[in-house]
Amino acid sequence: RRLARAHTIADLRTIARRRTPGSVFDYVDGAAEQEIGMHRARNAFESVELHPRVLRDVSRVDASTDVLGARTALPLVLAPTGFTRMMHHEGEIAVARAAARAGIPYVLSTMGTTDLESVRACAPTARQWFQLYLWKNREASEALLERAAKARYEALVLTVDTPVSGARMRDIRNGLTIPPALTPRTLAGMAMRPAWWMNILTTEPLRFATLSSFDGTVAELVGEMFDPSVTTEDLRWLRERWTGKLVVKGVQSIEDARMVADLGVDAIVLSNHGGRQLDRAPTPLELLPRVVDAVGHDCEILIDTGVRTGADLLVARALGASAAMVGRPYLYGLMAAGEQGVERAIEIFDTEYVRTMRLLGVASTDEICAQHASLRSAHRP
Ligand code: FNR
Repeated sequence: RRLARAHTIADLRTIARRRTPGSVFDYVDGAAEQEIGMHRARNAFESVELHPRVLRDVSRVDASTDVLGARTALPLVLAPTGFTRMMHHEGEIAVARAAARAGIPYVLSTMGTTDLESVRACAPTARQWFQLYLWKNREASEALLERAAKARYEALVLTVDTPVSGARMRDIRNGLTIPPALTPRTLAGMAMRPAWWMNILTTEPLRFATLSSFDGTVAELVGEMFDPSVTTEDLRWLRERWTGKLVVKGVQSIEDARMVADLGVDAIVLSNHGGRQLDRAPTPLELLPRVVDAVGHDCEILIDTGVRTGADLLVARALGASAAMVGRPYLYGLMAAGEQGVERAIEIFDTEYVRTMRLLGVASTDEICAQHASLRSAHRP
């Protein structure tokens, strides 16, 4: 019922805001420093012009395509997000189930709050990828790799844009800790969001996919655990060790895309981490055509940050990406209504994508090409 009025991702965001404590909503919704990078990434999608062709038979359309060598129902991947059980007590399991039902891949984060074996077990035939942050403690990272391989994660996604945490000003101002602390302010907020608090207080305490326990701010956690000395040597090491598909997420230049492709990775995610790391980093969509040119067929390119509509998926395909990832959109769904909310978020992308394909005169995802969309002048490389 709550979802009856959710027709767009923006609608889900509005419901999410009403259902979750402000500091939790802000953790999802916010970005780093002045949040310029996040807005620019979104603006780039909004400024794209679509070029329809008419008099084409679009009575049947096929939205499916190959991503990382296997079929997916839509060119959409659910991005890794940390602490997902903080957004809603069903957390990663709800997201994994909704993705599995929709036939699209889900990436579990190293900072997930459900252990990686349980996430795998809840949808054993689904496409699941595991996102890796390299720890200062390399033995712990190796153990994690072994667990991910044993649990049969299809791909490993190494995130490389987080040597330290970006400064998320909303979190700093809200005094957000993981798990959220009981302070006079949060206690006062309980009356406003009783369902969220009931669920969080009566279900298992937040556990981490990989860490035993933690209590502090996100920046403290990253500073303590993440290894800022990671280089291409580590990527070579990973390539030798991990026999499945290997993806590098957080590439933000043509030169780095070329360098990473030369190391034999299967895919690159052009991403500025939702604008949550370096503010004013390049806008992924503006880099996309040039990176695709530079890398050619050596590896697949995915893109994220600012994807909010089905038409955006089409734009990503037209400019050369094999798929787009989304983070906040499915988290808004999760905060709004748990698993059903995630399902609705995916449904919205699907409906909008198929409608846009028809209006553009394309009958299958594989037909979408550079003729169908262009960046307008300010965003042209
Ligand atoms: C993230 N992101 C992220 N990325 C990653 O590699 N590991 C992680 O643990 C997280 N955690 C995380 C938490 C939250 C709350 C958000 C919103 C994002 C980044 C994520 O994978 C993706 O790059 C962005 O979310 C994409 O931008 P949009 O779709 O949110 O605009």
